[in-house]
Amino acid sequence: MEKKFFIVDLQNQIGKELEDLFQIKDMQIRSSKDGQSYLEILLADITGSQTARAFENVDEIKVKIERGRVHRIKLQVYQFSDQLGIKVLDVYKVGEYNLRDFVPSSSVDSERLEGELRSIIKKVENPDLKLLLKRIFIDDNELRKKFLLAPAAKMNHHDYSGGLAEHTLQIARVSEMISKMYVIIDRDLLVAGALLHDIGKVFELEYTPDIEYTDEGKLLGHLIIGYELVSKKIHELEFMGKFPEELRMKILHMVLSHHGEQQYGSPVKPMFLEAQILHFLDNLDAKAYMFKKAYDLRSQNNARWSEYSKPLGRSIYLGEPEDTE
Ligand SMILES: [Fe+2]
Ligand SMILES: [Fe+2]
Repeated sequence: MEKKFFIVDLQNQIGKELEDLFQIKDMQIRSSKDGQSYLEILLADITGSQTARAFENVDEIKVKIERGRVHRIKLQVYQFSDQLGIKVLDVYKVGEYNLRDFVPSSSVDSERLEGELRSIIKKVENPDLKLLLKRIFIDDNELRKKFLLAPAAKMNHHDYSGGLAEHTLQIARVSEMISKMYVIIDRDLLVAGALLHDIGKVFELEYTPDIEYTDEGKLLGHLIIGYELVSKKIHELEFMGKFPEELRMKILHMVLSHHGEQQYGSPVKPMFLEAQILHFLDNLDAKAYMFKKAYDLRSQNNARWSEYSKPLGRSIYLGEPEDTE
């Protein structure tokens, strides 16, 4: 079902009854002055949120609601005093919906991200790595689709749809550049490690449409999920021919060591140059994003220092506030 009415449009629908998709962020049972129970329902989409109420069929509607999920909702828009009133008449389950109607997504569209992913893989010369990357990102349509939609994190960096692909491609681009400057680097290995390092995030996080950790994500984490996935794909290639044993260990080591230290979730520290550089580039891209986010808020806060950033463990110096006059 294509979404037609967004939260911001509802004020233009006063007096009308309509049906459309909304996320139900929250639901509370309340009592009116005359002792009647009603439901207070917080509706949301990409444009904002709006409180709605259900006064009739309260029990029926209540059991149909799954907090946090998208539902098809029949509602009536009315005006009471100077405010917008939304009456929920019924709630239905919904299967597929367009994620972009509910969560922020990358400013770069999915086709462009995919095009760049393909062109980076095309430039890989090592036949084994090329085959592996193709098997994961090109042959597996389902996986590629998920990869292009995934966020890179729940909150710390690139926490929007397409964020994982943006983060991954940026590291791959810098990998290509840096390999020209340090010729000692095995370029194909670094690029392959860059493309694969966070692939486990595809299964670590899910959209409900809020970004949440999956059970697998909580129990295993994206390093191990990624290790398992890449390992399985290599195994399939071994079955069909041969995949060099040393290369297998190296690429898996890069997935496992990219967080750099045990305290950040890596079971092993980076033990060869490409693994070490991958860790630096991963860190560089995540940190650069955090600083950018703080700078973006500069004009809003009109302050010389950002608020304390938990992932960075410090406040960021923003400089003198810009003259907005
Ligand atoms: Fe990671
Ligand atoms: Fe990463």
